Amino acid sequence: MTEQTLVIIKPDGLSRHLVGRIIQRFEDKQLQIAQIKKAMLTQTQLREHYKHLIDQPFFPSLMAYMMEGPVLLLIIEGENAVLQTRKLVGATDPMEAEMGSLRGELGTDKTRNLIHASDSVDTADEEIARFFAN
Ligand code: PPS
Repeated sequence: MTEQTLVIIKPDGLSRHLVGRIIQRFEDKQLQIAQIKKAMLTQTQLREHYKHLIDQPFFPSLMAYMMEGPVLLLIIEGENAVLQTRKLVGATDPMEAEMGSLRGELGTDKTRNLIHASDSVDTADEEIARFFAN
């Protein structure tokens, strides 16, 4: 089924000049970029996006990391886009992510893990609305 999902290329993806390599992997999998924009995320957006993690000890470092520079927000579209994208991105911890996944190849630690991808169709709808409302 054709789906849309939200991808965030996090600040280190931009500062390490990995954007082209990351997007190439989506295009190689026949996934399309439906929309793309560069943005500095705000505290308000991030507190909403990561609200399920607010009580975690790593929450302050996650917020600081996500605001250390601009991110790239993408709506990725294609057959089974949510699951395909999650598989391409790999497990949260780059040390556990499969080699061949983006985090497995390029990620450095659980916080600085380069990419966010929605975890379900419902979450994708919410996250797309959050970041592409205007
Ligand atoms: S996941 O991958 O989205 O299913 O994982 P989830 O548990 O929902 O969200 C974890 C997000 O928090 C970020 N983060 C960490 N996770 C675990 N341990 C540490 N220390 C940590 N630091 C930050 C992790 O990168 C996930 O971010 P997103 O952007 O959702 O991938």
